[in-house]
Amino acid sequence: MPTCLVCETPIEPFLSFGQMPIANGFLSPSQVADEYFFELKVAFCPNCCMVQLAKLIDREKMFHENYAFFSSTSVRMTAHFKSFADWVGDRYLSDSDPFVVELGSNDGIMLQNFAARGIRHLGVEPSANVAQVAVDKGIQTVSQFFDEELAQNILAEHGPADAILGANVMCHIPYIHSVFCGVKRLLKPHGVLIFEDPYLGDIVEKTSYDQIYDEHAFYFSAASVRYLADLHGLELIDVLPQPVHGGSMRYVLGRQGVHRVGDAVAHLQAREQMLGLKHSGTYEELRTRVEHSKDALRTLLSDLKQEGKRVVGYGATSKSTTVTNYCSLTPELVEFISDTTPIKQGKLSPGAHIPVRPYEAFTSEPPDFALLFAWNHADEILDKEQPFLADGGQFIRYVPRVEICP
Ligand code: SAH
Ligand code: TYD
Ligand code: ZN
Repeated sequence: MPTCLVCETPIEPFLSFGQMPIANGFLSPSQVADEYFFELKVAFCPNCCMVQLAKLIDREKMFHENYAFFSSTSVRMTAHFKSFADWVGDRYLSDSDPFVVELGSNDGIMLQNFAARGIRHLGVEPSANVAQVAVDKGIQTVSQFFDEELAQNILAEHGPADAILGANVMCHIPYIHSVFCGVKRLLKPHGVLIFEDPYLGDIVEKTSYDQIYDEHAFYFSAASVRYLADLHGLELIDVLPQPVHGGSMRYVLGRQGVHRVGDAVAHLQAREQMLGLKHSGTYEELRTRVEHSKDALRTLLSDLKQEGKRVVGYGATSKSTTVTNYCSLTPELVEFISDTTPIKQGKLSPGAHIPVRPYEAFTSEPPDFALLFAWNHADEILDKEQPFLADGGQFIRYVPRVEICP
């Protein structure tokens, strides 16, 4: 039986998606024969409440010099990280000559804002190709995996940090104790760790099961983050819900007893109580809703196919790898996926092998329906796609339920 990555209690897998490829493993036809698959299973820990993957794959299979996710492909996310950085600067960087470290800094979408203000910073980004984009923008970056040893080296070279940041990365790191030990070494006595990730409460409420894929080892809640922080002498001092990525939570942690704990922490815990996040029955119910969602999406796409309609995927997200494989979506049902990221274009989607084409393929031959794989960017996309809608095009969503919109 697998055990919890946080507290080592035996964990209870509640949902298996079957065989899955690497979520960001876009591939060329010649690579199909060697494609890697593993069983994607998610589990709940009845002791510390951490929801987590029951089986992990090697980090080098996911994060490398051909990593396909570039953060700066969304205009709204660029604006989000500007306001995130401004908020950190105003609230937590009062010392003279402050130092900010970011884990998973990708193409520099967050740190560019500190660099522009002349603030000492260091990005830690193991995927060399995206790290290089940041370096080319003049952002200090080391291309390594963050862990306790690296934290020690950063401390020796740069001194202690006022703030350690991470967006959509903490949930990617199963060796979380090494990360927290490193954070504790590297932070100043009154320094803060601030990270945000897709929030478990939103996943449960919206049945956004596509957040579950190889890179996401953890699905955090205030309850599980508090438990983890406590093991390391850290304290959850604030929580701030964020609208990005379909519902995220920003967690602020400091050393125990140093900071005032904001009221928002208790409020969020009360919400989690209502959502039943500490009860295994909640996850059994989630599984049932996920199974229904799959049936509904397959039925809708098969019906549209029968009616001779053309359906194209919008956004070759990592999340869509869970959907296309779990729901067995083939190129017969989804003709191609449109995506603006050059490294994904001309490739096949992982596992389902749906061709990924540039955005121009979408605009030059608009389909009847766009299956919104990038549903978390719906506002930005719907703004942009007014001409498609005006010409009679429609979107299909599957979060929070399968439906044609508008
Ligand atoms: N922060 C960006 C990127 C998120 S994608 C954003 O929110 O858009 C996750 C990133 O974390 C990837 O670029 C990946 O290479 C990086 N990553 C994975 N494991 C890591 C680790 N142990 N330390 C630091 N970064 C890591
Ligand atoms: P995203 O949902 O941010 O992340 P993940 O891979 O973690 O699920 O990915 C968005 C993808 O959608 C990315 O490949 C870029 C693409 N995209 C478009 O093609 N057009 C757009 O207008 C937007 C906002 C994104
Ligand atoms: Zn546990």
